[in-house]
Amino acid sequence: MTITITKTTPYDDQKPGTSGLRKKVSVFQQPNYLQNFVQSIFNSLDGFQGDTLVIGGDGRYFNRQAIQIIIKMAIANGFGKLIIGQGGLLSTPAASNIIRKYKAFGGIVLSASHNPGGPDEDFGIKYNVGNGGPAPEKFTDALYANTKVIAEYRSAEVADIDLDTLGEQQIAGVKVSIIDPVADYAALMADIFDFELIKQSIAAGLITLKFDAMHAITGPYAKKILEEELGATPGSVFNAVPLEDFGGGHPDPNLAHAHELAEIMFGADAPVFGAASDGDGDRNMIMGANIFVTPSDSLAIMAANAKLIPAYAKGISGVARSMPTSQAVDRVADKLSLPCYETPTGWKFFGNLLDADKITICGEESFGSGSNHVREKDGLWAVLFWLNLIARKRQPVADIVREHWQTYGRDIYCRHDYEAVDSDIANGILDHLRGLLNGLPGKTWGDYTVKCADEFSYTDPVDGSVSSAQGIRIGFANGSRIVFRLSGTGTVGATLRIYLERYERDVAKHDQDAQEALADLIALAEQFCEVKRRTGRNAPDVIT
Ligand code: G6P
Ligand code: ZN
Repeated sequence: MTITITKTTPYDDQKPGTSGLRKKVSVFQQPNYLQNFVQSIFNSLDGFQGDTLVIGGDGRYFNRQAIQIIIKMAIANGFGKLIIGQGGLLSTPAASNIIRKYKAFGGIVLSASHNPGGPDEDFGIKYNVGNGGPAPEKFTDALYANTKVIAEYRSAEVADIDLDTLGEQQIAGVKVSIIDPVADYAALMADIFDFELIKQSIAAGLITLKFDAMHAITGPYAKKILEEELGATPGSVFNAVPLEDFGGGHPDPNLAHAHELAEIMFGADAPVFGAASDGDGDRNMIMGANIFVTPSDSLAIMAANAKLIPAYAKGISGVARSMPTSQAVDRVADKLSLPCYETPTGWKFFGNLLDADKITICGEESFGSGSNHVREKDGLWAVLFWLNLIARKRQPVADIVREHWQTYGRDIYCRHDYEAVDSDIANGILDHLRGLLNGLPGKTWGDYTVKCADEFSYTDPVDGSVSSAQGIRIGFANGSRIVFRLSGTGTVGATLRIYLERYERDVAKHDQDAQEALADLIALAEQFCEVKRRTGRNAPDVIT
């Protein structure tokens, strides 16, 4: 085998964000840009010689080209085996499962998640470690440092690999295995959930469903599991063929972007259950006939009902949520005497807690939830959890949600995003908020008396690592909260996220519209952060 060593010079913008490196495709297409990053990944790893690397992506534009480059570099750098999803496809949770199941050294996942795809849109790459989860900050910091000094990269002189034919081939002494991207994942789901019960409920007409794959990776997974294995009517899964540009859409499962599903679920003939997933299959949106379940509520409901699911029937060890996620799950943990952890935004922070069995189920307000079955959030897992739950409870989604609120109270919740804000203005807003913190406790506005105000810093209870500056928290005596932070996943300017939460114990007030119920808090948030005044905007770009 001939290995070519190519001289290169660093790019200064390869700092991984909340979930890997995400940039426009044209950025990745610059000479050696991808190669620099991939070689920097390998330069940050130790002891992988002869070991296995998993490679797969969400199928977006540039996926195939990137995989060919990565294969040649992985061979040249000394991996002994490569496991690659057929067609270069692997959903993010499926990649996590493959890494774990086949005890790989790690994996490279190509995705920009829910961001649009296509020649003018986004691409992304991240490294997952041997537990199947995103690399911890210690690694991504080292990786970033390596991108700043990279001088050369290694690549094997071999022909492009046929990514479409299943089976194993030897390339320059390295085993390259092209696997079915769905099979192992479908088997894992069948181990966790009561497929027989769900199947019966669907056959009996107790459950009707629609799943919007948004022309992204979960199409083949959902077709296989929901239609072929569980017997949902053909066509229940729609937008099921993954496209390189996601059909021109924005594959983000929320009410704004999964509007086709939203129209069906708020329509006259709505099925019992509706759901959508994102570009790479790790996010989920859960709906019932005429109801949208917020991700924070979904997490709390899953935690409260975990015992009804075969894999969690013996009980769960604990739960975790990211800091801006509503406190609904805390109330469940409290009642069930379960440990509950508050982590920074980013799935990687759950990894240590899951590995140490401190938690079994975790989730985020950003439409992500998951469990110890893999080390990524998992869209279809959440869908199957809800289907299993509906089948066990024999109740429509709306009743399950209302009963939950009756028992625990409702955390009325929403998030306002201001996108593509000038970075200096955004940083100025955060600095201004930091300046306010000390003076806030004890002050009262209407029903809201500030109980605590701080900038969130997290000390990982397993390895002691500290992540500081993770967002501004303002907590009120009545259980309500406002949180401010800058997104770590945006690709243009800065995105300011404002998270608003009001706790409502009174059942008579549970049916309120969130924007109305949160109006006072929304006004207070503006008073604190002045985003409208400082940016000249008059409304958020996105409300979820
Ligand atoms: C990705 C990460 C999540 C995170 C979300 C929002 O999906 O995997 O862990 O919650 O992005 O992150 P952001 O920094 O944009 O709020
Ligand atoms: Zn995603």
